[in-house]
Amino acid sequence: MRRPIIVGNWKMNKTVSEAVALVKDLVDKVRGVDGVDIGVAPPFTALEAVAKVCASTNVAVCSQNIFWENSGAFTGEVSPAMLVDVGCKYAIIGHSERRAIMGETDGIVNKKIFAALKHKLTPIVCVGETLKQRELNETFTVIETQITAGLERLSPDEAGSLVLAYEPIWAIGTGKTATTDQAQEVHAFIRKKLADLFGSEAANDIRIQYGGSVKPENVDDLMALEDLDGALVGGAALKADSFARIIKFH
Ligand code: PGA
Repeated sequence: MRRPIIVGNWKMNKTVSEAVALVKDLVDKVRGVDGVDIGVAPPFTALEAVAKVCASTNVAVCSQNIFWENSGAFTGEVSPAMLVDVGCKYAIIGHSERRAIMGETDGIVNKKIFAALKHKLTPIVCVGETLKQRELNETFTVIETQITAGLERLSPDEAGSLVLAYEPIWAIGTGKTATTDQAQEVHAFIRKKLADLFGSEAANDIRIQYGGSVKPENVDDLMALEDLDGALVGGAALKADSFARIIKFH
């Protein structure tokens, strides 16, 4: 059985003191919750302070991005070793906002996955289609390309350790969530594709999160889906109450 994984992506929100206040509140609210992996992804500036609060709790720390080299002349980038040093366990890679605004390609995503794995950071690899692509019936081809090119050259063991996040771009921050049928259809497609690429054992191990306007009101129905193993949560993760309720899905 795949262990559910719920991660809050705070995006470019929260100063250090605000981040510490939020994570303290969250840690209190989810103390003792087990059977689910819990993570928060604060901005880089707050990672260390948040990681200190999370030490010896059931909440892990995740970065929102990573660079593929470990040191050197890469102005503005943060390396895998630096993330490990401040206590990160996971790294979000290829979020749609980075793909759309910062021009990240599947090739870059691929390099970042290898860099994360080398440093024992678990990649959370995001894929998803735009509204236009969905309307043109391109959802499956877009996702197939993102998976095939993004996960190129990974061994079945490496692939099996990944977390994937299916995030339809039209559902991110819009309040529109994919219906359970839409979500299950794409999640099942992703798992089938992963089985073609890496074998069914690896495909069965890979946890596939859903992301896009996940909230307390829809998390229970989403988490009940066969191929949906967790959530990557933006807006609703910025409040301890709503994120704790999402973590306590039933
Ligand atoms: P949202 O963001 O929950 O605010 O839609 C999800 C994400 O971008 O990971």
